[in-house]
Amino acid sequence: MTLTTTSTAPIGVFDSGIGGLTVVAALRRALPGERILYVGDTARVPYGGKSAETVTRYAHEISDLLLGDGASMIVVACNTASALAVPELAQSCPVPMIGVLEPGAAAAVKATRSGRIGVIGTRATIGSDAYGKAIRRLAPDLQVIAESCPLLVPLIEEGLLEDPVTDAVLHRYLDPMLREGVDTLVLGCTHYPLLKPAIQRICGEGVTLVDSAENCALTVAAMRHGTESAVPSAGPDIMLTDPSEGFLREAARQLGIPIGSVTLRRIGS
Ligand code: DGL
Repeated sequence: MTLTTTSTAPIGVFDSGIGGLTVVAALRRALPGERILYVGDTARVPYGGKSAETVTRYAHEISDLLLGDGASMIVVACNTASALAVPELAQSCPVPMIGVLEPGAAAAVKATRSGRIGVIGTRATIGSDAYGKAIRRLAPDLQVIAESCPLLVPLIEEGLLEDPVTDAVLHRYLDPMLREGVDTLVLGCTHYPLLKPAIQRICGEGVTLVDSAENCALTVAAMRHGTESAVPSAGPDIMLTDPSEGFLREAARQLGIPIGSVTLRRIGS
């Protein structure tokens, strides 16, 4: 990554909804002094089954909102938007734009020993093969076994993080790739880090889980080094495009993120 930024203006982060708070939590650990503006597109979530054209339009509109609010960098926390929209949007964005995909792919390449990497995500992310392409760009000989897991986001949003129903669904998705010998699994969706304990239990300790939120935050930290305030920032400024807060408070509690007031921002049509 060659882009660097020297501004102390806030980092803009966006997601299709609330799940991107996993990236906010990782950013706060890596860069405690940075101010974060977060947009959750709760009016239009989920993105995971939508077309590249629609997701790119949504991502464009939210980026414009964040730029208007003074963001000096845009972190696309949503894996689906990272897969479908970032390659095009980053080219015209006036500030550095980074998605979660490349850092996650790089970490997976580093972690695997068997050369077999599993990737889980939404239908759109897996259908785009964006992780597979990013991994093979770095290491053409590695084998990528990908599975879309559309049932996981609703289960997480219902708070079923440790539940027999979630375990049964995880077995359904993960057992075939475990039989194929994956030793590294990319959690290619904003929500999945919240399921880490259950996923690790089912995969066993021999499988390394790659949290793309964590790896994205480390990349952002390398780009921002030396620019943050020494004073730890307050919680993120949260903006939602629909007043429905969904699992905002519960996710924030799980992730240890202080949430103050939430602002409603209407965008698009
Ligand atoms: N934020 C999405 C992602 O990371 C998951 C939720 C959705 O489908 O919008 O892919």
